[in-house]
Amino acid sequence: MMHVCNTLDEWRQRRRALSGKSIGFVPTMGALHEGHASLVKRCRAENEVVIVSIFVNPTQFNDPDDLDKYPRTIENDLTILRHLGTDEVIVPSAAELYPNGYLFKMEAPGLTNIMEGAHRPGFFEGVMTVVLKLLNLASPDRAYFGEKDYQQMKIITAMVADLFIPTEIIACPTVRESSGLAMSSRNMRLSPAGRQQAAEIRRALSSPNAREILEAAGFAVDYVEEHWDRRLAAVFVEGIRLIDNVPLAGENKG
Ligand code: PAF
Repeated sequence: MMHVCNTLDEWRQRRRALSGKSIGFVPTMGALHEGHASLVKRCRAENEVVIVSIFVNPTQFNDPDDLDKYPRTIENDLTILRHLGTDEVIVPSAAELYPNGYLFKMEAPGLTNIMEGAHRPGFFEGVMTVVLKLLNLASPDRAYFGEKDYQQMKIITAMVADLFIPTEIIACPTVRESSGLAMSSRNMRLSPAGRQQAAEIRRALSSPNAREILEAAGFAVDYVEEHWDRRLAAVFVEGIRLIDNVPLAGENKG
């Protein structure tokens, strides 16, 4: 039976009872979709215990409006997690996760001064800080991150290695709608026409002229860059910021 913890005291008790078992962890901000489901399924297949956290982390939002509008669908999320065979769900409060406010903060300027970090000041500091806290609380053998947020996955992998955190970071492929649109909680905010337009992002990214193609298709482009043998981009559709990336190897594959 799935167990949901809303307080850290209760969670610490639950965690003690799990020692000796292999533990997988999927941190999320809720508003779960097929992309998250693929992480939880892989976690289920590779570990005796599956832990998922749901926490909309305020420190990674530089725009208060974006934080307010972030979809919150907790009852639906719990139903999805139950169906996926999740054992433990941690739903902490901001007051408990940040007992001293935002007093301690992780920084890695050499990794965060490009792409998402350059366009969203403070974003990766917030992500690294909360992931470090969650990894300390969950103490998992493995933690699962999606490749849609490629830069995030690379930074977390580097952080965990640098701080000798005994958790293996597992990168999982991006899950796409049949149109090619990468699954994202933000897609819920798009109109049907916006969704259709957003499906062009993936196609444009498979071309070396991605920026020109995206601009010609009417997107406001934050960046298109190439790193780690991938082409990565952030664009706006109906005022909603979407990111995606594809491998460069064998251009046009993605
Ligand atoms: O990718 C996300 O959903 C978030 O950045 C994460 C890793 C759960 C941290 O809040």
